[in-house]
Amino acid sequence: MDARIGLKPPRHFLDLDQIDARVLRRIVDMAHEMKKAGRRVPQHLRPKDIEDMVLVMIFEKPSTRTRVSFDVAMRQLGGQTIGLNHTDMQLGRGEPISDTAKVLSRYADALMVRANAHQTLVDLAEHATIPVINGLTDLSHPCQIVADILTFEETRGNIGGRTVAWVGDGNNVAASWMHAAVKFGFKLRVATPAQLKPEQAVIDWVKSEGAKDSVLLTDDPAEAVKGAECVVTDTWVSMGQDDAPRRKQLLGPYAVDQNLMDRAGKDAIFMHCLPAYRGHEVSADVIDGAQSVVFDEAENRLHAQKAILAWCLGVD
Ligand code: CP
Ligand code: NVA
Repeated sequence: MDARIGLKPPRHFLDLDQIDARVLRRIVDMAHEMKKAGRRVPQHLRPKDIEDMVLVMIFEKPSTRTRVSFDVAMRQLGGQTIGLNHTDMQLGRGEPISDTAKVLSRYADALMVRANAHQTLVDLAEHATIPVINGLTDLSHPCQIVADILTFEETRGNIGGRTVAWVGDGNNVAASWMHAAVKFGFKLRVATPAQLKPEQAVIDWVKSEGAKDSVLLTDDPAEAVKGAECVVTDTWVSMGQDDAPRRKQLLGPYAVDQNLMDRAGKDAIFMHCLPAYRGHEVSADVIDGAQSVVFDEAENRLHAQKAILAWCLGVD
């Protein structure tokens, strides 16, 4: 008998559009506090009985930052981790996701999943009785954006009402930025080629929230960056995509170089979730230059993961 049956529903961290704006604000505030505290997590931010808890991490795709930052985050909170590639699991041989979710819920206290198909994450969450965290899917990357907002705020202050520009592919990371714009009340300008626009479901969600003014879609990078305090881009070819030549051709005019950065607001910061491909989506002088905060952003994954884990495991 699962001892958790009858308890409160688990606090999943699946997508930013599904989480209350006040909760998201609290998670980012906790991330700021985690960063200030360093390795020793203050007692009030440590989940109860964390020393008995285990986070299981499942990867269907490669990862450097997400894998290591979640592992270190759970250890710094006081818990333990198990990292698995799906090919090492019966999941890779066709065991149903629902059975996997139910079994792992009997052993562990939280699941972090990097999935090829978003539906895998949704199915895991539907059948798990412990929190499930989205460590990136083909559709979204919400943990990244918690770190990105922390990064924006530590250089610029509260992100509410500010302007951020996304230039490049309308991909999974862009989708989570769009969710965040509505939830945190900032303006996001998204410049993509018409053929690589963000998913229609995300565009429709922004409209349905009555927040159409918070996200501007354009095909003009110069329009997007004008006056923006932060310019963000990402790889042109995401994991699992097999049309690299087409994407590189379409995205050529969306490369972020110093000329484009000079059209943004004065001293605008540059962000990229990494891994980056210099000479493609961003020039080396921008990503390695004075306006770039990409390594702070990468570090902030650790502080953000601690906050996300703390919330999922019951800290308010
Ligand atoms: N930004 C990010 O998620 O990096 P990894 O793919 O290395 O986890
Ligand atoms: N959009 C990229 C992000 C990598 C962290 C991808 O999905 O591969």
